[in-house]
This record gives sequence, structure tokens and C-alpha cells, in this order.
Amino acid sequence: MLDPALAQLLPRTCEVRDGVLHLGGVSVTELAATYETPVIAYDAADVTAAALDWTHAFDDYSPGAMIAYASKAFSSVGMLRLLGDLGIGADVASRGELESALRAGIDPRRIVVHGNNKSRSELEAAVAAGVGLIVVDAADELELLTEVAAAASRPQSILVRLNPDIVVETHHYINTAHAGSKFGVPGDMATELLRRAAQSPWLLPRGVHVHLGSQLLDVAPWAEVLTWLAAWALQLRDDHGIAIDVLDLGGGLGIAYTEQDTPPAPADIARTITDTLAHAWAPTGLPLPALVLEPGRSIVGRAAMTIYTVGVVKDAGEIRYVNVDGGMSDNPRPVLYQATYRALLGARMDDAPDGTWWVAGVHCESGDVLIEDAALPTPRAGDLLVVPATGAYAASMASTYNLVPRCAVVLVEDGAHRLLLRRETLDDLFARDAGVTP
Ligand SMILES: Cc1ncc(COP(=O)(O)O)c(C=O)c1O
Repeated sequence: MLDPALAQLLPRTCEVRDGVLHLGGVSVTELAATYETPVIAYDAADVTAAALDWTHAFDDYSPGAMIAYASKAFSSVGMLRLLGDLGIGADVASRGELESALRAGIDPRRIVVHGNNKSRSELEAAVAAGVGLIVVDAADELELLTEVAAAASRPQSILVRLNPDIVVETHHYINTAHAGSKFGVPGDMATELLRRAAQSPWLLPRGVHVHLGSQLLDVAPWAEVLTWLAAWALQLRDDHGIAIDVLDLGGGLGIAYTEQDTPPAPADIARTITDTLAHAWAPTGLPLPALVLEPGRSIVGRAAMTIYTVGVVKDAGEIRYVNVDGGMSDNPRPVLYQATYRALLGARMDDAPDGTWWVAGVHCESGDVLIEDAALPTPRAGDLLVVPATGAYAASMASTYNLVPRCAVVLVEDGAHRLLLRRETLDDLFARDAGVTP
């Protein structure tokens, strides 16, 4: 029986049988033996439950909300197909992410295109694909997009990314709506861009986009930003006669990485948004906007775990290290954001922790430490060390640093498992090395 505080870090299907952790009915030992370690394993049932939590959260809001999965959290065609089949769209921020969503068969009308420096060819590809919304991030981009849409003779619906200058409580690298952020434009510039777009026969200005930041553990910022937006939208209508029919409130809902984290649920965010619209937006007399949400982490974050094999266990004086066969190349979040994680010995779940170890990776960086002070039963070489909640911004940010091949990513469902992304081979590593003789 899993402790409930620990269970919330793991996919909903997780259970312990004879001391071995299972997800989706498959043991971590079987996954390690089949795919080698490290391996990142997603539970399809957990992804589905999290995605449906988002769509159902807005059941009472008419006409519902479009949920566009932020594919930067983890992108593979198989994952996007699973989500697309549930009616979820995609937020894409590069040509590659757009291609991934299209190859997964996601309806282009449910694709939202982001980026603070989109190239002409990216915009051309998005317009040609018939994407639902392009989120304009700057005045230069508005001009470029006008040219691209005109050349393609395809009027394009757009949002303007608005920066309301709100600072939220999270790591400053993932705080995105403060003054000086590289994303979006301030309110007066957003007004100007919407006004210019309204004059172009090739642009259809539909509204604005705001993304507050990521890994937010409190609903208050959504109420704050919506109250601000209601006053701004009223001014926009009164001064320029422009209506906001679409409001894209981005992503940002956090997940639990350790037993101490207590994130709100999608239903809490939905309630805050609909209540604030009722109390701050409706009194302005403006029609209620159609909503778009772009959750990434809260759909896939909890659904996956990374399974490593323990190698050297070493006492370095002040600190005891347990070294695993991956590290910052398969999960750069601890190095980038000082992110915290929990560790488990996946085949010794019934052994009680008897000390703390730092979980270190294989890379030539002192900072390549996945977890400091991880409470564990004394680890031994060959143990499987599992890090829960690695479904978001781990595989998608993976690198081949030190020429370490990227690990396999697999999907587990109803007692079966299959590859989403195969492990890289040594030949893959040299595939673009021009110095290699054929
Ligand atoms: C524009 C935009 N939308 C959505 C997201 C997804 O955020 P999260 O994964 O925190 O839900 C991000 C993440 O940075 C983003 O920049």
C-alpha cells in the first residue's frame, strides 16, 4: 500500500507488489530489463486522467474551453496522438513541435503557435497548415505575418501576447509575465498591435494571450490577471471598438514533486477563472470570451518516472553519493531551476529509508546532482533508483552532453508497454558529425 502523500507523486495506477513498484500493471524491473536504463516510462491512464480533468473542469463554462497541450513539456507523435484522440489541441513553439502535432493528426484548427522570434519559414508553415491561432509576440512579427498571410492569400486568426507585469511565485527562469520579460508586449503596445491587425485584410485579431509562469502552486495569480484584463479589455472596446472574443490564459499549473508540494487541481483553476469572469468581466458588459488553456506539466508531469540503475555508491566525507547511469542529460531541471525531486528504490519499496544520499549523474559537472539528501534504504550497485514526476521538461529538454545517448521513452498501458522514443545508438550520435568517414 503506497502512502497517499507519496502516491500523489506517482501515476495514478501505481502499486507495490512484493516490494516492486508497478505502473499500468507493469513492473519497473520489467521495463529496466526490456529497455535498459535509464528509461522514462509514461502511464497512458494517468495522462488520460489528467487531460480529462482539464476538459471536464470547464464543463460548466459555455462553450467550454479549448485545451491545447503545451507540447514543449514532452513531445512525441505517440503522446500527441493519445491526447489528440481525447480532443486535446496543441500549443507549439517551433517548426518541429508544429510538425509533431500535424504528424499526430491533431486538427490544425486546434493548434496554437507560440514563439518570441518566429522565423518567416515557421510562420509560412503555420499559415500553410491552417493553424487556429498564431500568438503574435512583437510589432515586427505582426508585419512579417501580414506579409506571409497575404502571400499565401490566407487570412490568419491571431492573438497578441500581452505582458501584464505580474510577478508570480516560482523560479525566475519560468516567471514570464513580469515587466522586462522577453515574452509579449505591455498593455498599451498590445492595444496598438490589435488596432493595426484590425486594419489588415490578412489578419483576424481575436484576442490576447497571457502566460503567467510555470509550476504555480496557487490560484490567486489567475484571478489577479483576469481582473486586470477585464479593465484593459473594456478600455480597448471603448477607445478602439475592438472586442476580445478569445482569451488564452496559457499554462502554468504546478504538480507535486515531493510530499511537501500541494498543487491545486484543474477544477480549482477553472473555478477561479469562471468566478473572476463573473465578478470582474461580466459587469463591464463585454461578452464573455471563448477560453483557451495551455497546460503542459499538469497533463504529463506526474504520468512518468525515470528508472536508473545504481552504480558506484561512495562516501565523499561530508556527503554520501549514490551514482546513477543518467543525470543532467536526461533531466536538466535540477541544474536549470534547482528543481527538487524524490527518489525510491523501485524493487525495494518495502525497505525503510535508513539514511540520506545525494543522487549524482554520470556527467563531468559537479552540478550534475539530481537530488540532494534523498532519503533511501542503503543503496547497492544494481538497485533500480526511480525518480517520480519526470514527465514534463525532462525528456523534452534532454541533451547528449558528454556524448551520452538519449534514453528510451516508453508508454505503459493495461499491462503492456511500447516505445514512444527509442534509445539513441552510438551511430545516432555521429549521424551529423561531418568528420566521420562513410
Ligand atoms: C506560452 C506557454 N504556454 C503554456 C506553457 C506550459 O506551461 P506549463 O507546462 O507550466 O503548464 C508554457 C510554458 O512555459 C508557455 O510558455
